[in-house]
Amino acid sequence: MVEILCGVDFRIERGEFVALMGPSGSGKSTLLGVVAGLDRPNEGQVLVDGIDITAMPESRLAVVRNAKIGMVFQAFNLIPTLTAQENVEVPLYVGDHLGSPAARAREMLALVGLEHRLDHRPNQLSGGEQQRVAIARALATDPAIVIADEPTGNLDAANGERLLELIGDLRTRTGATFLIATHDREVAGRAERTLVIVDGRLRDDGTEVRHPGEVPA
Ligand SMILES: Nc1ncnc2c1ncn2[C@@H]1O[C@H](COP(=O)(O)OP(=O)(O)OP(=O)(O)O)[C@@H](O)[C@H]1O
Ligand SMILES: [Mg+2]
Repeated sequence: MVEILCGVDFRIERGEFVALMGPSGSGKSTLLGVVAGLDRPNEGQVLVDGIDITAMPESRLAVVRNAKIGMVFQAFNLIPTLTAQENVEVPLYVGDHLGSPAARAREMLALVGLEHRLDHRPNQLSGGEQQRVAIARALATDPAIVIADEPTGNLDAANGERLLELIGDLRTRTGATFLIATHDREVAGRAERTLVIVDGRLRDDGTEVRHPGEVPA
């Protein structure tokens, strides 16, 4: 057995934007997978919005994941045969959600500035636009937390910057909570707090509180 994470202990408050940094192979994606209930830890507990997901059967976990967790990936991971609107509707058809999925999907795509691209399929959208659809999809169910693994990793600098601005804007408008793994100091610089992971352990007490205006280390 390979030990990947050890002694990791942290808490994220509602509405926070937390960056997770660390060298390649340090365990960032693994940690996000554990928080999302995609990987199970051998020891310890994971609570999402107060719900202990650690030992939950997969069937219930799928329900909690749908309701509480939005996921965004480096490679966008949209369904290629579906339009932007249909991609955003998908999580709304999976669980129990109020209102019409179509109306909610249109509302979310307007929120990310893509109201004019509802009927485009992923291959008819730029990378930056695809990632905005992915964010709209992640937020559609009004999750407790959005977990993003290198969301700007496949974008050029200008589109990465736009995505970060969008995330900041969405936080103000929706109160959404973000946990973002990144190599990019620009991304981490936007976060209120940075968790640094090295060899599967959070450095120091696991938090580096950064105040506005302070230069990143
Ligand atoms: N399914 C797996 N089985 C065994 N080892 C794994 C598995 N997934 C990842 N690892 C190992 O766990 C460690 C952490 O990997 P992880 O993908 O979490 O790193 P990361 O910080 O996200 O890296 P990167 O910045 O390159 O994305 C690595 O040593 C990796 O080889
Ligand atoms: Mg990774």
